[in-house]
Amino acid sequence: MCGIVGAVAQRPVTEILLEGLRRLEYRGYDSAGLAVIDEQGQLVRSRALGRVASLQERLHKEPIEGHIGIAHTRWATHGVPAEHNAHPHFSNDRVGLVHNGIVENHAELRAELKTQGYVFTSETDTEVVAHLLSRALENGDDLMQAMLNVRSQLIGAYSFAVIAHDDPETLIVARQGSPLVIGLGLGENFVGSDIQALLPVTSRFIYLENGDVARVKRYGIEIFDVNNRPIERPVKQSNVNSFASDLGEYRHFMLKEIFEQPSAIAATLEGRIAANGINWGTIKGQQVQERLAQVESIQIIACGTSFHSGLVGRYWIEALTDIPCQIEVASEYRYRRQPPRKNQLVITISQSGETADTLAALEKIKQEGSCLASLTICNVPESSLTRESDWSLMTVAGPEIGVASTKAFTTQLVALQLLVGLLIQAKGGDISKVEQLSNGLRQLPLLIEQALNLNDAIETLAERFLEKQHALFLGRGEMYPIALEGALKLKEISYIHAEAYPAGELKHGPLALVDSEMPIITVAPNTALLEKLKSNLEEVRSRGGELYVFADKEAHIQPFSNLHVLEMPHVPELLTPIVYTIPLQLLSYHVAVLKGTDVDKPRNLAKSVTVE
Ligand code: AGP
Repeated sequence: MCGIVGAVAQRPVTEILLEGLRRLEYRGYDSAGLAVIDEQGQLVRSRALGRVASLQERLHKEPIEGHIGIAHTRWATHGVPAEHNAHPHFSNDRVGLVHNGIVENHAELRAELKTQGYVFTSETDTEVVAHLLSRALENGDDLMQAMLNVRSQLIGAYSFAVIAHDDPETLIVARQGSPLVIGLGLGENFVGSDIQALLPVTSRFIYLENGDVARVKRYGIEIFDVNNRPIERPVKQSNVNSFASDLGEYRHFMLKEIFEQPSAIAATLEGRIAANGINWGTIKGQQVQERLAQVESIQIIACGTSFHSGLVGRYWIEALTDIPCQIEVASEYRYRRQPPRKNQLVITISQSGETADTLAALEKIKQEGSCLASLTICNVPESSLTRESDWSLMTVAGPEIGVASTKAFTTQLVALQLLVGLLIQAKGGDISKVEQLSNGLRQLPLLIEQALNLNDAIETLAERFLEKQHALFLGRGEMYPIALEGALKLKEISYIHAEAYPAGELKHGPLALVDSEMPIITVAPNTALLEKLKSNLEEVRSRGGELYVFADKEAHIQPFSNLHVLEMPHVPELLTPIVYTIPLQLLSYHVAVLKGTDVDKPRNLAKSVTVE
């Protein structure tokens, strides 16, 4: 059945619309199309018979882009499946419309419009509505009035999304019978046939009622009921990304949780980014703003995967603020003396909030009275760490069942970026850096979706690891902790011995391990360190090592007999550690499945390590 997606945003919307269509594919369809108002203010569209992938291919060859748009998957009712019948339908290049449902009185309306000179290019009932809207605009209505006016002429069940050349900042939607939901973003809003289409960009929704017409702008929604009276509809928090403890279509919780990351990240960002920066309420506790302003040093304490997120956090804190940051595994920190540091913020990071070593390290700090404030980044509300800390910054990943941490890790990284934004704000720092962080985070769920598209290629790649006993992971800068995390994932669930090194360290020892039997996995985003990394890869290749490189499509790393390149989407530099985590999670998962291990409950390990 037909599916509708629409978006109005500051960022370009074509990819959001396409992703929405992909998520509606399950409904069944025969053609797909998309329209935007481009930079020149023109209404432009692209349509294709067949799959959303065909539309995507067409858009790749002939791109269209804009900040407002509508998209559609069509399941033919009136007129054969064909490109000229695919939506969006235009009237005089002035109005663009997508439609779900049937306009029963389309024949009479068509006849009437033809006598008035309107030209039809399709056999659909939908095109009638586009012309009716165009006629109302010509008669002086604004787009909202036009929709209210046209609605009164229609018989049938439908939902519509409309954009118009005359009003390039407004999306008008109407519902009568066919479902339609508005997705609320931060300075951007969306519409969709169901929330599935919009989960990568939001988890807050308004469900329109029959008879509703809504004006959707970047910073406002107005809804009118069946009697044309303004009405408020409740905002609902989605629980479809409820991360319920059932496997659904997935074979293992780990895979399910890997694929939940776009919605877990969206949930973690929800309500935390405002037009003027990161909301102070992101951190729960007393005097957050005042005391963050006084912070002169930071100590991060965590274990395992949470420690790896802290390692990345240190890179970000020191790159974007002037605050020195130290990090240590909790089991070491708790047993050694640390010289007191002035105005120190102590950050614990933990998925469970119950890890014994982390709790003990926090206890030690509190007893020593050596911190200005303690903050926990944690996924479990009311856990011991949240109760014992002065402040908490909660990740909203939902329950993580697989022992191997996946969505908890990436949401911790998101939380750390929010914290960095707050530190900049508290210190009166360069607000453009906060904007850069916010803009990046808004794109993140979609970029993760794109990285998840590598799943099939990685499943094939995993076969090459089946007989391996050892593996090396390499990364530079903030990608080094990601290499560490990749190695931890592989050893945890596939039981292959894996180690990670900063790529520049290779020649100081580990290079001796390299031969044709040693797989070396590398993450190579297009950052300032790329050329250095390429030299390190050359060192490995010339010694016969088998290299597997997850590389930015603009990194220009050429595949070779012993150098396999898997292309990643281009990612803003600050997001690279988060997005490049995805293929490493997938690789370890598929290797483990091939090896037949107990993926969700690997031997000897527990999800919550409550003993020392
Ligand atoms: C990660 O895959 C592991 N399950 C493990 O390293 C874990 O991150 C560590 O035990 C810390 O747990 P926490 O985040 O609950 O404190």
